[in-house]
Amino acid sequence: MRFVFDWQEYAARARQMAAEGAVLLRNEDGALPLRENECVSFFGRCSFEYYKSGTGSGGMVNAPYVVSIPEGLCRSGKVRINEALRERYLSWIAEHPFDKGPGWAQEPFSQQEMPLTEELVAEAAAVSGTAIVVIGRSAGEDRDAVYAEGSYLLSPAERNMLRLVCGAFRRTVVLLNVGSIMDMSWVAEYRPQAVMYIWQGGQEGGNAAADLLTGTVSPSGRLSDTIAEDIKDYPSTAHFGDPAENVYAEDIYVGYRYFETFAKDRVLYPFGFGLSYTSFAMRTTAFAAVGEEIRLGVSVKNTGSCPGKEVVQVYYQPPQGALTRPRRNLIRLGKTQCLEPGEEQELRFVFSVEEMSAYDDTGATGRRSAWVLEAGSYKIYVGSDVRRAAYAGKYTAHALRVTEQLEEACAPARPFDRMIIAGDPDADRPEIGYERVAARMSSAAKRIAERRPEAEACTGDRGIRLADVRGGRYSMEEFLAQIPDEELIPITRGEGMCSPKVTPGVAAAFGGVTEALKGYGIPVAACADGPSGIRMDSGTMAFSSPSGTAIACSFNTALTAQLYEYVGRELRMNHIDTLLGPGINIHRNPLNGRNFEYFSEDPYVTGTMAAAELLAMHRSGTTGTIKHFACNNQETKRSRANPVVSERALREIYLKPFEIAVKQGGAYSIMTTYGPLNGIWTAGNYDLNTAVLRGEWGYAGIVMTDWWAEISDDAGGLSRTFTAQMIRAQNDLYMVVNDAETGMPGDNAAAGLSSGVFTRGELVRSAANICRVLMNMPAMDFLLGETDEIEERNRPETEMGAVYPQPEAVCEAGGCELDASGLVTQGGSANIYSVRIPESGSYRMIFTLRSELGELAQSSVAVYVNNTIKGSFTVNGTEGGSVTRELVFDSSLQLSNYIRIYFAQSGLSVAGIRLVKEETA
Ligand code: BGC
Repeated sequence: MRFVFDWQEYAARARQMAAEGAVLLRNEDGALPLRENECVSFFGRCSFEYYKSGTGSGGMVNAPYVVSIPEGLCRSGKVRINEALRERYLSWIAEHPFDKGPGWAQEPFSQQEMPLTEELVAEAAAVSGTAIVVIGRSAGEDRDAVYAEGSYLLSPAERNMLRLVCGAFRRTVVLLNVGSIMDMSWVAEYRPQAVMYIWQGGQEGGNAAADLLTGTVSPSGRLSDTIAEDIKDYPSTAHFGDPAENVYAEDIYVGYRYFETFAKDRVLYPFGFGLSYTSFAMRTTAFAAVGEEIRLGVSVKNTGSCPGKEVVQVYYQPPQGALTRPRRNLIRLGKTQCLEPGEEQELRFVFSVEEMSAYDDTGATGRRSAWVLEAGSYKIYVGSDVRRAAYAGKYTAHALRVTEQLEEACAPARPFDRMIIAGDPDADRPEIGYERVAARMSSAAKRIAERRPEAEACTGDRGIRLADVRGGRYSMEEFLAQIPDEELIPITRGEGMCSPKVTPGVAAAFGGVTEALKGYGIPVAACADGPSGIRMDSGTMAFSSPSGTAIACSFNTALTAQLYEYVGRELRMNHIDTLLGPGINIHRNPLNGRNFEYFSEDPYVTGTMAAAELLAMHRSGTTGTIKHFACNNQETKRSRANPVVSERALREIYLKPFEIAVKQGGAYSIMTTYGPLNGIWTAGNYDLNTAVLRGEWGYAGIVMTDWWAEISDDAGGLSRTFTAQMIRAQNDLYMVVNDAETGMPGDNAAAGLSSGVFTRGELVRSAANICRVLMNMPAMDFLLGETDEIEERNRPETEMGAVYPQPEAVCEAGGCELDASGLVTQGGSANIYSVRIPESGSYRMIFTLRSELGELAQSSVAVYVNNTIKGSFTVNGTEGGSVTRELVFDSSLQLSNYIRIYFAQSGLSVAGIRLVKEETA
């Protein structure tokens, strides 16, 4: 492929996305935009320490830079900053550095704030009319937010800050640098003039915030979640966080579907809400129900005084029949171009009436396990948020109609009560009732036994290679028939993390991971986290993009595609075939730690954004792995807590984004969760991975487990070694093992195949899924000798500088020599070796170096193992003499590693590097 990779162009798209995703909730007294050349005072340490993302695998991008908000503002040149206050903060921060916590999933939700006094705030107010208060939050994988001060609620220090600042300043603007919504009851208490969610906007976030603050861009983001008065108002809160069982009792009444039906008065800011600096008039210009299609024309006019964009949201209100249904359901969204004052644009929408179907999982309509359109009026509403959407027209269904007959799948293992509308469904405020959901009647085991695929007998090697299948000369069946069981089983294993077989520091390698598989011409593909930028633990720089929530709130699918086109190119440039993202779980509860990686409480927004990202990445032959399939809606005990959820809620809410991503986004890579779904762990869940995904949606791609996930067997056992059950369920790939040849110690695949837990037919089925995907990935192009021509422009300078891959080293028991002949020792160069050792333990790394410089010259070398710094040393000039330097790695080497040797200054030459195993006493 040939393409241009311009970092500035990438940054411009990300900056626009971060700006378009920001949601302005309040803007009194014309507080925003800031006045030209006025002086602003920044409060809150996050002003200077911007959160580019949340934590965990989704936040580990080695970004070249992260722009803070004051930096962005300074660069705009449009306002001045209270320098004295900034200096004060910076020196306080130097003494109270950012606390990352002791490690994985330990970073505090918020950081200590500089204590403020009335005098200090008054001093600032005397020199500036506007205060900008930045409040930041962090959460992430393995760490849900909590309903406590400093997390969902403001901390006492933040309250004090708001009290003092709002009391002293004429105008206070509060910016929320967060990954998900938080408690907003303080707005009524402190009444700041303006409040805006700027989310976690990636490395360009500060520039984007500046664009909004200065009015260069008028806010056009809309809430992708409902903000209620209190956390308890979300019906999921009663069950969220339970370590054993998470009952989805609210069923389909998630987010605005609940609030607009039962509790309008508990909403502070409705779904879809967001202000602009200008105003718009929206009207429906055309409405027609033509056959099975609804067609709408909506005109938007900028009636204000500055340019801006408006979001159009189309909802439907279905009739209440045998199934009770939410009063509002989003069915289409659109965003205007930037309209000049007085300018008007018409947006057109078309959808099929079938899309308004409900799923009957009880047979209440007489049609069990079917999508049905019940008789009655389907009213269409159009507006700029769910509350303001106005009636536009209706479609009448004269009789009940089955739009798709399916079969029971993924149903609950036990009965439970779910929310419905009780009494008069058309009452102003309908009553909440509950109905019993029955336990499942079908058996996945029976289905597996009845639907086993056959495989052709093994033919032995006929010389057919995967390229022959790609070229249409042989079928996939003929190709795979050549490969004996023991050689084929390893294709179901991914290697990682940091497998030396692919790009340094990525999450996994899969495909041709053994010599035998490689021999058949199967390429090795690479996957990397995701979702908001590429994670390479080698320290390689990558672009950090806005988080999922920010992207969703842009309501701009075209812009999402423009940004992800660049993500796709960046993947390809780094020889990575799939990004582990987007995350498309539903924002079921505001406390979910991974909400920043996901999009919205609404399945349509979620699915549509994911589809836009995927299609854009596909343009460069790369893709995204949509995750986590399905119902990863809490991080607390995510491998154990069992979601108890109805088939209806699954189909209408939780599986829906995946269905959209598959059908509209052409998804071909999916990751299951760590946990169960209705009692069956998703990595071995046949109904989920086969009956629904492949059977109903026609999916032909791969399914991979989450990293080191467990799989359940039929007898209630649970283990990482149950890959036989995994293959049987058509979760094709186990992620991840150290060595694909042998798999996880105790892996039951070989035994499971001979004892009939799964069959060769099932093994071949998964192998075919994997090969079908691989054969169209960049890894295949590269294997076949194709090369890319990439014109890289405007690469940012980074601390780590340029990265130079070095030859792989495979150590014997005593150690090994690293080939230093191609080492680049120029200042700012990072050299990366992939090093395999036969057993873990302590190793000593011995450098033999030389420098021509004088003795006062200082040259430093830093050594990182798997992205963690392990030591550094400085060598003075030796005037040509030779010196040795040693570093000891105490048990920090794993079986496969990346060792990065970084030269901070030029001047050294390296004669040799040896790695020697330490003797144990
Ligand atoms: C996460 C996944 C991630 C994987 C690889 C897991 O801990 O749940 O989302 O893609 O690690 O880093």
